[in-house]
Amino acid sequence: MTRNSIGFSSTPAPRSPISQKSHKFTESVIREMTRLAVEHKAVNLAQGFPDFPAPEDVKEAAVRAIRADINQYEITWGSREFRRAVADRFLHDTGLEVDPEREMTVCCGATETMIASLLAIIDPGDEVVVFEPFYENYGPDAIICGAATRHVRLHPPDWTFDAKELAAAFTHRTRAVIVNTPNNPTGKVFTRDELELIAEQCRQTNAYAITDEIYQFLVYDGFQHVSLATLPGMRERTITINAMSKTYSVTGWRVGYAIAPAEVTNAIRKMHDFLTVGAAAPLQQAGATALRLPESYYLKLCEGYQARRDRMLAGLEQAGFRCFRPHGAYYIMADISAFGFSNDVEFARYLVKEIGVGIVPGSSFYRDPASGAQQVRFTYCKKDATLDEALRRLEKLRLKG
Ligand SMILES: Cc1ncc(COP(=O)(O)O)c(C=O)c1O
Repeated sequence: MTRNSIGFSSTPAPRSPISQKSHKFTESVIREMTRLAVEHKAVNLAQGFPDFPAPEDVKEAAVRAIRADINQYEITWGSREFRRAVADRFLHDTGLEVDPEREMTVCCGATETMIASLLAIIDPGDEVVVFEPFYENYGPDAIICGAATRHVRLHPPDWTFDAKELAAAFTHRTRAVIVNTPNNPTGKVFTRDELELIAEQCRQTNAYAITDEIYQFLVYDGFQHVSLATLPGMRERTITINAMSKTYSVTGWRVGYAIAPAEVTNAIRKMHDFLTVGAAAPLQQAGATALRLPESYYLKLCEGYQARRDRMLAGLEQAGFRCFRPHGAYYIMADISAFGFSNDVEFARYLVKEIGVGIVPGSSFYRDPASGAQQVRFTYCKKDATLDEALRRLEKLRLKG
């Protein structure tokens, strides 16, 4: 209310046309870089989507599903066949048996799965522990849910963390820790010992672990992906999130899922129902085909990505970047100090406009932009020809220097 000479008027004080929450975060830097890349006809190594085709069998299964008229709302928490396929795959990968009728929710990509999961367990004032640098969605996700975040720093070159700092991040307010392994943006694959340290904190403080395992199959150099839910005492306190997006090169399909204890699953299902009702029915049908692809598919996928990583590492180092060798996912974090730019955003703008390569400034993965001011992220989920063209353009950097 505004005050006038005789007291309170009935005219409300002008208020912001948008909510306080909307003020607390900005548009995605990654999407902005993609737009700039299009505008400047740059090779887009900013956003993590493949520019090569999705598997034929999976595409055919989607076409068949649409032709068979699987075109109406599915069961809100996901098609029976898809959930059965996920449960079978999860048993194969982890040795854990889950009940797809009671412990699984299919959502629209890992993105919606994460926000629905957080909404299911978070109350205002709760805290969520996040490793930094982090996938940029986790900050806004926490804000939307009314949670405060506490951060644990991953230190290059191996992106290790300090066990004492981890312990200090867990308080009596901690409701959950988000663990993304293999990790975006660093390419870190959390070891069993590191996961055990995290599990110990969860058990001690009665916190949930929410894992983002979307790059599960992209692990190199003899590293192994370990699901946190398999550690002692963790199955009952872990929400395991995964999606079709990266494993089957279908980021536009928007099919993801959460595996969680039955009570938590009930709450995730409610959130999901009122957020989106359900994920695309024919694409879940095709998902059942995808999840039953033979092991050779996953081996070939991983080999292909490891070869791309090696190609990019060699090319980037040749161009003058100091790269932090990733052992998983499909990103490379690199140090740009050799180029003498005052910060990562200035460097990224220069690269997209003058050199013709779109990347993500490192600061977008940190709370304090200064922490990432000399880092940038490249993605390499692209055809060899795309990577070669990007590397050819980046050569210009070396010649300038
Ligand atoms: C760690 C991580 N989680 C989630 C996502 C988004 O997954 P989806 O496309 O299934 O929503 C991405 C996409 O880049 C990611 O890197």
